[in-house]
Amino acid sequence: MLLNERRREEAVAPSWAHLRIPPFPQVALQVLRLANNENVQLHELSDLISSDPAFASEVLTVANSLLYAPRFPASSILQAIAVLGANNLQGLCLTVGVRGYMGKALNQPAMRSIWRHNLACALIADQVASVGFMNRDVAYTSGVMHDVGRLALAVLRPKEYSLPLGAHSGPPASILKAEREMFGWDHCEAGRQLIVDWKLPSEFEAIVADHHLPRQKNGSWGMADLINVCCRMADTAGFPAFPGCEATPFPELLDELPERERRLFHTTIEPLAFEIAKKITAVETA
Ligand SMILES: [Fe+2]
Ligand SMILES: [Fe+2]
Repeated sequence: MLLNERRREEAVAPSWAHLRIPPFPQVALQVLRLANNENVQLHELSDLISSDPAFASEVLTVANSLLYAPRFPASSILQAIAVLGANNLQGLCLTVGVRGYMGKALNQPAMRSIWRHNLACALIADQVASVGFMNRDVAYTSGVMHDVGRLALAVLRPKEYSLPLGAHSGPPASILKAEREMFGWDHCEAGRQLIVDWKLPSEFEAIVADHHLPRQKNGSWGMADLINVCCRMADTAGFPAFPGCEATPFPELLDELPERERRLFHTTIEPLAFEIAKKITAVETA
């Protein structure tokens, strides 16, 4: 962006506080903070989730759904944690939290696309991590988190935001300018600010702030890179955040993976897309 253009946008951009982003479900945020603590006891997590009965029952429903497909259904939060593990619980609570956060907005097709894109990115990130050396739970959680800024803008003004989302076409990052014009903030900047405001682990900052930056082939490979690629894989698998989003051909995305992941991951998009669609339906119908 030209310097003058950015200055002009900054001059009209409202301060962050003026945006009045609606609060995210507190229990989900607390689980994210607590589960990162190595000394956390399982019963502490269970007590925390159970302190919000509506949230706890949603967590139990999704834990027993096809998304996790446990061999034996869990009948209590403590049992679910024991079966899924504390780390898996972070992603699960975040998924339930996002679903609750979007609430009625999910009835609008544009908002539903955003939610599906996020979940698809998380599920693909989990799969790519499983064939490489990255932590799967962190990959899933990071995937659900990557577009948190977009979720917040969507919850803030669902009807107005649906318009540019429905009308815009171009590469994934091209929507950022329309967001800055509408809100004064794009979803990458908004997401980074939310990670700070919500006191979430700082590792998430680069993931939410940089996921639309161009990557260098054969560059570094960290969690932010994995999410950057998986965000575009979600578009290509049929889950773009907005309908006019130009998807990157799958072979080009595979090319961006490190050698081991490229060798062991899906070679075509169809089976991946089918699997992701099945799991998204499982969460939506749970
Ligand atoms: Fe994004
Ligand atoms: Fe994305």
